[in-house]
Amino acid sequence: MGYKGISDFRSDTVTRPTERMRRAMYEAEVGDDVLGDDPTVKELEELAALKVGKEAALFVPSGTMGNTIAMKVAIPQGWEVLLEEKSHIYNFECGNISRIVGALPRPLKSSRGMVPIEEFDANFHRGDRAHVPETAGVALENTHNYWGGAVLEPSYMEKVSVFAKKKGIHFHLDGARVFNAATALGVDVREITKHVDSVMFCLSKGLSAPIGSILAGTGDFIKEARLIRKALGGGMRQAGVIAAAGIVALEEMVERLVEDHARAKRLATALSEIRGIEINPSEVQTNIIVFRLVSDKIGVPEFLEELRKREVLALGFGPSRVRMVTHKDIDDKDVERAINAINDIMK
Ligand SMILES: Cc1ncc(COP(=O)(O)O)c(C=O)c1O
Repeated sequence: MGYKGISDFRSDTVTRPTERMRRAMYEAEVGDDVLGDDPTVKELEELAALKVGKEAALFVPSGTMGNTIAMKVAIPQGWEVLLEEKSHIYNFECGNISRIVGALPRPLKSSRGMVPIEEFDANFHRGDRAHVPETAGVALENTHNYWGGAVLEPSYMEKVSVFAKKKGIHFHLDGARVFNAATALGVDVREITKHVDSVMFCLSKGLSAPIGSILAGTGDFIKEARLIRKALGGGMRQAGVIAAAGIVALEEMVERLVEDHARAKRLATALSEIRGIEINPSEVQTNIIVFRLVSDKIGVPEFLEELRKREVLALGFGPSRVRMVTHKDIDDKDVERAINAINDIMK
């Protein structure tokens, strides 16, 4: 149960590496990856490209860097990218689209992460460069963090892909948790990634690796991405030490995600029965649950503090919402403890 006695539901990023990962890291054959001769990094990049059905992949230190590089390669300075308004790229990545890419992010309203195609169409700009930045790309998020781990269906991804192709623009996926999406849909992850030009996914979230993400796309795209990674200070030397854990993550940690989803569902169902908590368990599709506190007796900061006293950690998600995430280091007893703690706090 938990780690050092704490049931930590703040994020799936808190997962510790597995025994196999630690052993693989210890035994990893390494070289200088900036000079292109770390065999373990190469093995991870080849495996990752294969898994998501792309020509090539790049190992990057974080999801934020992966998304930033993708935007920098795909969106010329002074152009714009269409985004979902609650997306991680738009809200939680230090404004990198403006700060580093020099492009205009255009946030659009959605239904649980899915922006209607007509909205994309209505916000596509070409031909009036003197006034409006021209549209160079579209980026979506699957699963969607803000919308409680919501899954974007492959049929929707396909429609966006058709739109992007018709307009001749780049389609990037922030797939930090794209393996959770594939697990929830019961499909190979390529059924999702085949619709996009580039995809970033994280090894260090539900897949439990200690560090690292992958950016995948065409050979030419990744060649340019490698250059931008170096420019951003993301060229890592004996990175095989951490890539080794990433290989274990891809080989061994995908199948178990279904357990995290079942626990999230169980937690959401139990919480939906507690007075003062608002959540629709049928909307919980993956490992993230977001609920609203609707009590005039307790606010989010006090709620989190009361939870912490009961050795359960969660994250505030705005003025009235709380996020809890299930992962490898959360078992049935942790879920039980969380349900009991929340029952106790809200009674
Ligand atoms: C949807 C999504 N995209 C991107 C990221 C960024 O990943 P990192 O924390 O590795 O920079 C996160 C991290 O929480 C995320 O939830």
